[in-house]
Amino acid sequence: MELSITELMGADYRRLEKLWEECLDGARTFDLRRIRDRFNRFAQGWRRHIRVEEEILFPAYEARAPTGAARAAWVMRAEHREIEAMLERLTPLMTARDHSTIAVTLEGQPCCPTVLFQSHEAKEEDVVYPMMDGAFADDERSKLLEQARELLTAESG
Ligand SMILES: [Fe+2]
Repeated sequence: MELSITELMGADYRRLEKLWEECLDGARTFDLRRIRDRFNRFAQGWRRHIRVEEEILFPAYEARAPTGAARAAWVMRAEHREIEAMLERLTPLMTARDHSTIAVTLEGQPCCPTVLFQSHEAKEEDVVYPMMDGAFADDERSKLLEQARELLTAESG
């Protein structure tokens, strides 16, 4: 069964959204183990997702697409740096032992983490991935998908 870039990367985003929802649920119920476990997997998953885009998909797309279209990848890279900074600022969740640290970490951010993650996902799923799917011939896309899938699953725990 052959997936598109939109389907493969979208499925990974659904997995990440579920981990984040469970992490927030852990915060609501003060389940420290759940917070740590889910946040750890969430942050690792996001970093891996970004690597797949920046090491495999974007370079191939930029080599193929006209300059104007390739600019989308440049904008997405800038957002990746914001997401990485947010993940870094959220790391106190890994060691938090009290309600106030959890609340300050989740609520004291310059922007809402959930909105930051979801707005990036929406831009890629609605615009960037479909453009990439359309830019490659079937055999090229299959090769990229194979590499992307390999990296997505190689380190997933
Ligand atoms: Fe991205």
